[in-house]
Amino acid sequence: MCGIFAYLNFLTPKTRKEIADILIQGLERMEYRGYDSAGIAIDAGEVKDRPHDAIFLFRKAGKVSVLADALEKGSIHLDMTKEYAIHCGIAHTRWATHGSPKDLNSHPQRSNDTSDFVVVHNGIITNYREIKEYLLKKGHKFESETDTEVIAKLIQHVHDRYPDFSFRQLVEIVIQQLEGAFALAFKSRKFPGQLVATRRGSPLLVGIKTNNGRLTFDQFPVSFSKARRFTSTTATHLRDHDESFCGTPTVLDLSIGAVPSGDNASPMSSIRPFGSSAWEVEYFVASDAAAIIEHTKQVLYLEDDDVAFVENGALSIHRIKRGLTEKDKTLPTREVQEINMELQQIMMGSFQTYMQKEIFEQTESVVNTMRGRVLPSGEVVLGGIKEFVADIKRCRRLLMVACGTSYNSAIACRQILEELTELPVVLELASDFLDRETPIFRDDVAIFVSQSGETADTLGALRYCKLHGALVIGVTNTVGSSICRESHCGIHINAGPEIGVASTKAYTSQMLSLLMLALVLSEDRKSMEQRRGAIIDALNNLSGHISDVLKLDSEVKEIAKEIYKEKSLLVMGRGFNFATCLEGALKIKELSYMHCEGIMSGELKHGPLAMVDEDLAIVMVICKDNVYKKSLNALQQVIARGGRPIIIADQSVPDADLAGMPHVLRVPTTVDCVQNILTVIPLQMLSYHIADLNGLNVDRPRNLAKSVTVE
Ligand code: F6R
Repeated sequence: MCGIFAYLNFLTPKTRKEIADILIQGLERMEYRGYDSAGIAIDAGEVKDRPHDAIFLFRKAGKVSVLADALEKGSIHLDMTKEYAIHCGIAHTRWATHGSPKDLNSHPQRSNDTSDFVVVHNGIITNYREIKEYLLKKGHKFESETDTEVIAKLIQHVHDRYPDFSFRQLVEIVIQQLEGAFALAFKSRKFPGQLVATRRGSPLLVGIKTNNGRLTFDQFPVSFSKARRFTSTTATHLRDHDESFCGTPTVLDLSIGAVPSGDNASPMSSIRPFGSSAWEVEYFVASDAAAIIEHTKQVLYLEDDDVAFVENGALSIHRIKRGLTEKDKTLPTREVQEINMELQQIMMGSFQTYMQKEIFEQTESVVNTMRGRVLPSGEVVLGGIKEFVADIKRCRRLLMVACGTSYNSAIACRQILEELTELPVVLELASDFLDRETPIFRDDVAIFVSQSGETADTLGALRYCKLHGALVIGVTNTVGSSICRESHCGIHINAGPEIGVASTKAYTSQMLSLLMLALVLSEDRKSMEQRRGAIIDALNNLSGHISDVLKLDSEVKEIAKEIYKEKSLLVMGRGFNFATCLEGALKIKELSYMHCEGIMSGELKHGPLAMVDEDLAIVMVICKDNVYKKSLNALQQVIARGGRPIIIADQSVPDADLAGMPHVLRVPTTVDCVQNILTVIPLQMLSYHIADLNGLNVDRPRNLAKSVTVE
């Protein structure tokens, strides 16, 4: 989806150029979230021929680099050396949902010609048509096709009617009218030096950098304001809203102890540096920690409907509550956390692309996934589910719910989960699961696999299962993500940041995490002792085996040179390797836009065989496992129709069985349920080289985004 970023400095002087650079750099770090247009808004009070342009907007269709160039040229109107002691800037990188990628549809969206209010948005406003209709009737003029523009116009509208309201109050009113998903950051020329940010359904965090690196609170209190919602957002109700808004509305704040007062949050009771007389602070608001990591590691993750407000350099967090009760006086807190991620982890190093780096990082990422979990004693420990293991073992069935690559990792591990736990394991594509409103029982355990932890369908399915009383386990790569926070317990896959849109190292770490889950759930099964021992041995050798597979890269590139112009490719296999075929085909499709299908070779004679002839490019995965003979049968069926498939096989498959095949890529032999981690890597490399040979952008395939926060 989109990435939003905001930067506010307070008494830490910065030139306009420095501020613009910080905004652009923040966008570059998040470009994988969306890259069809980008924009920033900064202060520009003194533009000579345009006295009303208190806020300067730079918006461009295209990548962040296009925006950076435009800024370079456009900034001739501005004195870039002008220094600000206090300044708020907002920025956005877009993946279009409403309105094609063009300058006017780019964010920030503005409230009027003079940009009194500007906003950046990640998500979708589902009721924007109704709001737009209402605002059009009120005389507002729209210039974009985006859903976001209604937010900018709506805040202007409320401000025009209630000019005494604070910036935060205006935002609180606006978000009560919105339906859908959003993370928002607002800037206003009416409220210079202030910033408001909020979220519902889309991720958002606040990074805090102080001059001495310490904060007064690490548990940050949240204050409540009374609801001012007017039942619904239909035009009629918006009208009611206006009419009921005569005079100053009452705002009830709960000020308890040192908690910041809702409407008069003072720096004394909000966040501020500790033991420092010079009160300097910088705030960063971002969709993703990758955007702020080089500035600060102190972050606060916002929850749905939190409103973060910075005024006079003080940050306060507010929530709207309808019908405040005594119970609400127990205030929630938001923790300021230290994020454990180094900048170099998100940089490209000596590789050409992030994807290539991430494929080659798998020797380390699998070790990180297992660190402190697969112990030398042979024990497997998963701290995040420890308290729940007994409950999980007692369940009626295990469900695994996910999308795309994450779903393929669930397919890869179903068989071993069934075998080791002897529980029924049901797989669900999150979107289909929601469409069917599947029956869920209180004694179900539902596992949600998502590298981003933000995928809308998966998150929706999680909420549905939770509502129906199931025990919910999150398996994610993003600490602090929505799935993480909303699960009862979970497993961090610890693969490290994955910037390439096509998932590679997160996939293998997801498989490993599910495999470790199967091992934990079968720890007391005597009958499984030997099997578990063999798997744990295989895990201990996994990193070395991956390094051997990576040595195939140049051989894979040569194969890619033979097939990169093909229109169509089939990838066939069965058993544990069926998931490898699906995942390999998905990688090839998403990176090279080539038609590619993963086929269960047991299904070959039920249809797909009709496509096979001497011209069709085919890859077959054949390993010495319990379906080996059947895999060889499939190979014979293909050969008999003139097919000459490229083979991925483990080293124990006899040469004689693969005689006459043009290419055989050999991977080390390991235990069947770990073998698919090794067989998928040549396909990751193949997809990479096919796309690269076709001159395509490997890290940012067209039409896709890393984190899909819309249904
Ligand atoms: C493909 C890919 C996608 C994601 C899918 C779910 O390479 O990455 O198929 O797997 O969009 O995303 P997550 O795992 O974040 O829930």
